[in-house]
Amino acid sequence: MGIARLVIFASGNGSNFEAIVQAINEGRLNATIVGLICDQPNAYCLVRAKKHAIDTYVVERKSFKDKTEMDKAILNQCIAWQADWLILAGYMRLITEEILRSYPRHILNIHPSLLPKYRGKDALGQALAANETTLGVSIHYVDEGMDTGEIIAQFPFTIRGGEPRSQIEEKLHQLEHRVYPEVIQQTIQEERK
Ligand code: GRF
Repeated sequence: MGIARLVIFASGNGSNFEAIVQAINEGRLNATIVGLICDQPNAYCLVRAKKHAIDTYVVERKSFKDKTEMDKAILNQCIAWQADWLILAGYMRLITEEILRSYPRHILNIHPSLLPKYRGKDALGQALAANETTLGVSIHYVDEGMDTGEIIAQFPFTIRGGEPRSQIEEKLHQLEHRVYPEVIQQTIQEERK
């Protein structure tokens, strides 16, 4: 078996995507990124992909009659890239059965809360609104639900009352950038045993 071939899925900034690229370049993650799937044509993650000469596939929902057709196109691209793992990093869509059944237990996501708490959008905002002082990050297998798949690893951290949101976000992102490549590496290794 050769080196693990990853496709990254992102919709926005792509800082986690970049952290994965860095981990590979520094030898902390034994894998190769074969492409980036992005559903937002103006997303910054596409600029990052270009900088690193990573192939991209932009899919806009409006170009397809339904979600199934869109995911069929995405799946075909993943197959063409000979992807082993699909790594969601800020991809703001649900993955349909079309893709799930071709990649059982080979699709991962990172979510900025201690799941099952605060699924979906703005998980940090949800946690802060609930006055949580222990926040965290979860990495999980993807299923058809929104942030509902089996949890692989969780990383809590605490905040002080009154800390500005920007500072908390900074901590959260730093944590994500450190742990996501680590957990991807462990998960790939586990599967190869
Ligand atoms: C991260 O907070 C991740 O947990 C969530 O979406 C955000 C993506 O950030 N799923 P970025 O695009 O990687 O900078």
